[in-house]
Amino acid sequence: MPDEAMATDSEVRVRRIATACGVEIDGIDLTQPLSNSTFSAIETAFVEHEVLVFRDQEISTEDQKTFGRRFGDLTVHPFAPSSGDAPELIVFDNDADNPPWGTDVWHSDETFRAEPPLGTMLRALIVPDYGGDTLFTSMSAAYEGLSDRMQQFISGLEAVHDFKPFRNLFESDPASREKLRAFEDRYPPVSHPVVRAHPVSGRKVLFVNPQFTLAIKGMDEDESQALLKLLFHQAEIPEYQYRHRWAPNTMVLWDNRSVQHYAIHDYFPKRRKLERITIKGDRPFSSDPVVDIAVVRSRKGSRAISDAHGGHTPKET
Ligand code: SIN
Repeated sequence: MPDEAMATDSEVRVRRIATACGVEIDGIDLTQPLSNSTFSAIETAFVEHEVLVFRDQEISTEDQKTFGRRFGDLTVHPFAPSSGDAPELIVFDNDADNPPWGTDVWHSDETFRAEPPLGTMLRALIVPDYGGDTLFTSMSAAYEGLSDRMQQFISGLEAVHDFKPFRNLFESDPASREKLRAFEDRYPPVSHPVVRAHPVSGRKVLFVNPQFTLAIKGMDEDESQALLKLLFHQAEIPEYQYRHRWAPNTMVLWDNRSVQHYAIHDYFPKRRKLERITIKGDRPFSSDPVVDIAVVRSRKGSRAISDAHGGHTPKET
């Protein structure tokens, strides 16, 4: 396609729709290839505003995937059902016969992976006349909202993440247990910094979520749970949020490195259908030195905390 047919960055309009995160992107047509300058303007808005809303995009699944691939390789969710010819696509098609499941909890996508997705793109096809909104919350704003003392306290800590909600998908018969063990080998509990540095902006982001974070490494169970409760609460503060009302042909792209989301299941039993893809991310890192509490404790001669769960046994779910 000749360059003059492509959108240019002068056509990209960025309109803020909430205070902490969320902008609407107008002036582009995602059925058409985007010029590098247009894409670069979108990428800049993505890092800066964390949630991008594209309205009235009558695009196909292929167009969605093509746009997603501009950001990086697409990934396949290990547990979500997908079709053989489109393994990167997750279709949320919920109604009375297929109630929504597992998304009405604050989370970043797939933090049980060593390299959680960079971003997620969700496109609405069928929406209920009311209900079914998605909440987003800026975890960089949530970090900023902590006191200096708390920011210092959590600096350098690491947390253990696990695919715990998906354990419920496995029955108790031997074949299913065997399958679960294979997933456990492939996706063992993984440690991520409690405060990650955004790899592009350098901003600090609070990176624990109630769906996948089990424990803070090196703390006693009570301490760890109390601290996580407090940190999880940051996502619930309305001032850091954007509430998205869906319409058909609206697509939302969020920065999974710095945003959590929560799908409101209040539309059940009405029908709601969306298509989702995720883009490959990097290993989260911290800009603060990691505090190895196990070493500190062993130097003091107190009990060592060494295993991958930070001294905790993952809870049975
Ligand atoms: C998700 O958690 O990716 C689903 C969000 C939604 O259904 O709104």
